[in-house]
Amino acid sequence: MGVPAHQATTRHLGAAYPFASEAGLGGRGVLIGRDLLGGAFVYDPFELYRSGLLTNPNMVVFGQIGRGKSAFVKTYLWRQAVFGRRSWVVDPKGEYTALAQAWGVEPVALRPGGHVRLNPLDAPPARAGADDDGTRRRAELLASLAAGSLGRSLAPTERTAVELAVADVSGPDGRAAAGGAAPAPTLPQVVDALLMPKASSAAAIRTTVDALAADGRHVALELRRLVAGDLQGMFDAATSPGINLSGPLVVLDLSAVYHSAALGVIMTCAAAWLQAAVAGLELTAGVVVVVDEAWAILANVAVARWLQSSWKLSRAWGVSNIAVLHRLSDLTSAGASGSEQVGLAQGLLADSETRVVYAQPPGEVERAGELLGLSSTETELVPHLRRGVALWKVGARSFLVQHRLSDIEAAFVDTDARMMATGVPGTGVPGTGDTGPALTGPG
Ligand SMILES: Nc1ncnc2c1ncn2[C@@H]1O[C@H](COP(=O)(O)OP(=O)(O)O)[C@@H](O)[C@H]1O
Ligand SMILES: [Mg+2]
Repeated sequence: MGVPAHQATTRHLGAAYPFASEAGLGGRGVLIGRDLLGGAFVYDPFELYRSGLLTNPNMVVFGQIGRGKSAFVKTYLWRQAVFGRRSWVVDPKGEYTALAQAWGVEPVALRPGGHVRLNPLDAPPARAGADDDGTRRRAELLASLAAGSLGRSLAPTERTAVELAVADVSGPDGRAAAGGAAPAPTLPQVVDALLMPKASSAAAIRTTVDALAADGRHVALELRRLVAGDLQGMFDAATSPGINLSGPLVVLDLSAVYHSAALGVIMTCAAAWLQAAVAGLELTAGVVVVVDEAWAILANVAVARWLQSSWKLSRAWGVSNIAVLHRLSDLTSAGASGSEQVGLAQGLLADSETRVVYAQPPGEVERAGELLGLSSTETELVPHLRRGVALWKVGARSFLVQHRLSDIEAAFVDTDARMMATGVPGTGVPGTGDTGPALTGPG
């Protein structure tokens, strides 16, 4: 019945694609699997963006735990590499290690007090005509981190203190790090500048040094956690030399801090560094940036907003972003009024025109249906989707797709075996209240 299971070596895939072209989105792209309404399903956000079928190349993947979200993403990256595309992953569970090994690359493992430092204040090189003022982006990032960490939005006085401190340590023209002229400022420098502002900073807003220091003190103490507190030794210095950014895959392994209450802040620092590093690449074929378990970032409105704005910027850099979530209400959970939450969810969805929806509980789908643009039939269908099957909304079009694994891929996507063998966290996800019936198995 139907089309036989797809199996091929990556060497053969490139040659095979031109013939797998009946799918509704054209034949250019990577094979995902079987369109359950017939034919192969092939997808490429860069092609669809170029041809005007999508207005942005970003993707959100939703679904309950154990439905095959990460498996899909891992194989997708693997298959995109056939076309010379590179992948960068923020990996909170440390589950992309097997994929990295298959590629012969070493994940960048971050842990408090470890060997590797990433400077989240690294700025992308300035580009002619681009709106990428390094100082403004740094201030936005730090304000978001502080707000996320404080669990409230910043007062205007606090926001101003952050801006002045960042400007203070970024150099006179605010582009000290751009173009490699001078090293990027570091978090300890910003914390110092907040705790001990310059007279010129105070004068700029007609206040005293003491008053400005008082304005910035809460923010400084919160950011200090990343510098001198429990999270020290990851993001508090210049980026470590020798990190290999030239391979097909870069993985930031955050599993050492997966159970930290500050996971969202840590992931945001990692994502900020990654966005800047990707923007600095000489791109020939596009990059896919993945934030797996992105609920940890998106659960907080302040950091979610930062992520959304960075998605907007990265469009100019040839980047396709993928966020992996459990459910749409990850976008609308903590820390904001109803209208703010909905606005944020709408904004992020507007910036991600490809939505891959795996099974979710009926109540959730009803709430999410409208935002996702699901028809009533689709709303009924989604709770019953089997593992590996997802509803793809690509722009205005819908597809029901069975994701297919090759033998090689099956080995590096198997999170069940790892959980059974080593007790790696995978079902008990902190902070979401949705640990649900985890693995319902295929069929
Ligand atoms: N398309 C598929 N076909 C067969 N098995 C799959 C498929 N997708 C995922 N799996 C298996 O299901 C398990 C859970 O998948 P995973 O991607 O880790 O789930 P999620 O990220 O949604 O929590 C993995 O062990 C994987 O091997
Ligand atoms: Mg997963």
